[in-house]
Amino acid sequence: MRVGIATDHGGFNLKQDIEARLRAAGHEVVDFGADQLNPGDDYPDYITPLARAVAAGTVDRGVGVCGSGVGAAICANKVRGARASLIEDHFSARQGVEDDHMNIICLGARTTGPLSAWDLVEAFLAAEFSQAPRHLRRLQKVASLEAELFGDRRGTAAAPGKA
Ligand code: RB5
Repeated sequence: MRVGIATDHGGFNLKQDIEARLRAAGHEVVDFGADQLNPGDDYPDYITPLARAVAAGTVDRGVGVCGSGVGAAICANKVRGARASLIEDHFSARQGVEDDHMNIICLGARTTGPLSAWDLVEAFLAAEFSQAPRHLRRLQKVASLEAELFGDRRGTAAAPGKA
């Protein structure tokens, strides 16, 4: 699988660890940075390009890391077509894909250790969306909300006052 990964300083070491494990497992990895540990960097600068790549389909899935995973999830979900969530348990890593078509897993490097994080990433990558009608119906409602918020053009916000 072609997997994108990104972090700020808060998750730098965990990103390096996960990236090495992904490559060892045979995945192709696209690294959106940070390329070095810089305590002054900002997670949107790395998570936004990752989320855009996932939404555009240039990578199959995304792994977003920061100190807590919260900022990464908030940022990624501003991108139309990104379905990101902070994940801390195995069940949600799998079910988030099967039911909700989650395409970006967000991890907190200050809350989740490397072995747990890798278990979550493996579960996330092994899962597939179920295609069940009730889940497709719910995703369609999410897509309708995105169309309302972003307008007709992908990733382009509607002008204020316009539908
Ligand atoms: C950076 O120190 C930290 O705030 C960030 O990595 C993340 O935890 C934000 O949600």
